[in-house]
Amino acid sequence: MKPFKPYSTALLFIITGSVWYMVGTIYGLFSAIHLVSPEFFANIPALVFSRARPVHVNTVLYGFVASVLIGCGYYYVPALLRTPLWSEPVGWASCLFWNLAVLSGPISFGMGYSQGREYAEYIWIADVSLMLALLLSILNLVMTILNRVEKYLYISVWYMTGTFLWTSGAYFIGNVMWHPRTGALSGILDPIVHWFWGHNLPGLLLTPLATGAAYFVVPRVVKRPLYSHALGAIGFWTLVAFYTHIGGHHIVQGPIPNWIKVASTVSSMTMAIPVFTVLTNLWMTARGAGGRLLHEPTGRLVLAGLIWYLITCIQGPLQSLPYLQPVTHFNNWTVGHAHIAVLGFSGFIAVGTMWHVLPMITGRRVYSPALVNLQFGLLMLGLTGFFLVLTAAGLVQGSAWNNGELVYKVLPELPPYMGSRLGLGLSIIASSFIGFYNLVMTLRRGEPVDPDTMVWELEEIA
Ligand code: HEM
Ligand code: HEM
Repeated sequence: MKPFKPYSTALLFIITGSVWYMVGTIYGLFSAIHLVSPEFFANIPALVFSRARPVHVNTVLYGFVASVLIGCGYYYVPALLRTPLWSEPVGWASCLFWNLAVLSGPISFGMGYSQGREYAEYIWIADVSLMLALLLSILNLVMTILNRVEKYLYISVWYMTGTFLWTSGAYFIGNVMWHPRTGALSGILDPIVHWFWGHNLPGLLLTPLATGAAYFVVPRVVKRPLYSHALGAIGFWTLVAFYTHIGGHHIVQGPIPNWIKVASTVSSMTMAIPVFTVLTNLWMTARGAGGRLLHEPTGRLVLAGLIWYLITCIQGPLQSLPYLQPVTHFNNWTVGHAHIAVLGFSGFIAVGTMWHVLPMITGRRVYSPALVNLQFGLLMLGLTGFFLVLTAAGLVQGSAWNNGELVYKVLPELPPYMGSRLGLGLSIIASSFIGFYNLVMTLRRGEPVDPDTMVWELEEIA
């Protein structure tokens, strides 16, 4: 890969994201093994659950899903603006800082250094590195927009740029970066600020990146212009309006002020507006041509991602209700939701969009569409299994605890669920290795594409 070629930032993010996909899921395996056999890694401190779990979660979130989606955005923003990226070297620098932060996970958590707040575990110096990546990306994207040839800003450009603007603020606040030693506040204020970030990581980083990518791929695959730009704008602004303050729904069972619980639960319901405007808009775009989405490998992954989004966002508002939480909170139900949300929605869209844009970035056809289909099948098998098994385990735990059963009486019920999750996880891990093989082979042996067939016009989708 030659440095600083057009779209090289995009490719770099996609390559590094694909590596973290393998690393992150392997750490998921270590965590899953622990839940089946707690003594398995007892003599290897770096792999015990309390260290492997945060490596897994942070690596798949920031390293895999976010990196791949950012890489795709670094392709479609310049392409939609008919303007080269303002600076590829600055793009490489953001990719470097981003990856240094992700790399700090296995190293510092493995050594026992963590800020100990879920989704905000990176130590302060890694936070600084991640912030630099975000700020450099803002500079690069804003300058590209200012220098653009195409005056019209397609909705995907809004989402990709908005992601960095919001995330830089939310990350700084949620990680309490002005307290380098602890990365935390004291007292009840801390979980409130912590979960402000905990939900804005999916809400203001992954959701807009995945939505922007879906808005790019769906019209291209079905060969129809977007149904409604007005719906696109409504979905965008209502996402900012409602997502920013629903973090409180993670601590409904905690001693936080009642008005925060009410505000976050009510806004969790109003999330239906941004979610359904996006889904309706894309559905109407594909209406009558949905078969193309189903039959084209990259479109199928994105379509599946949108269906997982629908399921996630029916489940999400329901599980924010204080009446249902006694059964769904503090157990594997939430872990099931987290997997269909992060892997199902944003992860599927990341993988689908990556294969969609790769030929346009590299000038080479995907080495094996059959392997993309295999990857889809393995992901579907693993994730559907995860969803069923974890939801069932959560219901067993939730109903037992709700009926006043003691924890030790419920634990013997769990091994079949934890064992099945371990087995199903192998399918997801296999998908990451197959994807990486296909990526390397595409770069090395992918059939060169006639540049004329790669040219596309904004009018085709906008
Ligand atoms: C309408 C939209 C959504 C609502 C209302 C919602 C609601 C919730 C609630 C209430 C919880 C906490 C459950 C508990 O602890 O009892 C939760 C957890 C979670 N959600 Fe969502 N969700 C939504 C969409 C999403 C999306 C799109 C993503 C990812 C892109 C996501 C990722 C997560 C994750 C990772 C957790 C686990 C947090 C933890 O570790 O405790 N959610 N969600
Ligand atoms: C790219 C694919 C994956 C993504 C995006 C992902 C995402 C996540 C997230 C967001 C959490 C936090 C859940 C929560 O706190 O509620 C989590 C936890 C976990 N994941 Fe994954 N995961 C993936 C693959 C896997 C695989 C393949 C395995 C097993 C082989 C696995 C096993 C686990 C385990 C054991 C936990 C900890 C659950 C607990 O604390 O009880 N994950 N994962």
